[in-house]
Amino acid sequence: MRLSGRTSLYGVIGYPIEHSLSPIIHNAAIDALGINAVYVAFHIKPSMLKEAVHGMKALGIKGFNVTMPFKNEIISYLDKLDEEAALVESVNTVVETDGAFVGYTTDGIGAFETLRSIVNNFDGLHIVVIGAGGAARALVYRLSMIPCRITILNRTVEKAKTVAGKFSSLTSNAKITYGSLSDSDQRMIIPKADIIVNATPVGMTIPGYPISPSLIDRSHVVFDMIYWPTETQLLREARLRGAITINGLPMLVYQAAYSFKLWFGIFPPLDLMFKVAEEELLRHG
Ligand SMILES: NC(=O)c1ccc[n+]([C@@H]2O[C@H](COP(=O)([O-])OP(=O)(O)OC[C@H]3O[C@@H](n4cnc5c(N)ncnc54)[C@H](OP(=O)(O)O)[C@@H]3O)[C@@H](O)[C@H]2O)c1
Repeated sequence: MRLSGRTSLYGVIGYPIEHSLSPIIHNAAIDALGINAVYVAFHIKPSMLKEAVHGMKALGIKGFNVTMPFKNEIISYLDKLDEEAALVESVNTVVETDGAFVGYTTDGIGAFETLRSIVNNFDGLHIVVIGAGGAARALVYRLSMIPCRITILNRTVEKAKTVAGKFSSLTSNAKITYGSLSDSDQRMIIPKADIIVNATPVGMTIPGYPISPSLIDRSHVVFDMIYWPTETQLLREARLRGAITINGLPMLVYQAAYSFKLWFGIFPPLDLMFKVAEEELLRHG
């Protein structure tokens, strides 16, 4: 990477941010395509988000990713929102366009492409999404365009109800229902699911299982959005019970690739992004 007076600056904001794989993934693609840009991680204290966004605009930053805990809060500091980001109420990508910061989300397409890498056709399938936060909503939005059945299970059942109601009102394709994480709801819903998605931090920052693993069997596909650890307790137990499992690394790479496309107008080399991300995770291990 050769920096010059014309190098454009991109990055990711989060708190904490030092373990982010995004700089490695994006700089590998930037280099491979010979783009005069650099992508760096910015550790932003939550109390400084507004100042950070103003500062980024003043510095002429061309685009950035947004990660935890800012994906919702950042919306107040942007000039414009893409329709999907507005519906999902979450932004993971900001693009500078004619001096304005425009918010997008690529988490939904990232999660959807991950599932599509193992499931060809979702028509008629029952997908259980655990969680009702930004990542869950982003996936539910994408799935809601398909004639499938979606059940949102969340610790705070009111949130699951709100999300199910909102996306139901936007689609005539998917049937969207909701429940809690109570034992009885789990016992009623999980065994009938085709695909189970964990969109909570349980298994990453919070140890344990988001649902009872004893309800999982070989008929299930289990997708955990977490990529570190590379195999959560949920995925391990699901694999031992014969389920098909997939972790959050493909989602990370796909969402990055779609952010890249928004910034540079060109789809980056996915294989390279996967390779550098996997190598970096191995190094962590
Ligand atoms: N692989 C990727 O590229 C990628 C991208 C985005 C997100 N993710 C992962 O997806 C997960 C969710 O992210 P997010 O942005 O949607 O977060 P978020 O908006 O903060 O939502 C978190 C969700 O997890 C639930 N939750 C939190 N702690 C819980 C607990 N102890 N037990 C049960 N449920 C709990 C919350 O339930 P309540 O409503 O009850 O609080 C909420 O539904 C994180 O692990 C994140 O790392 C991965």
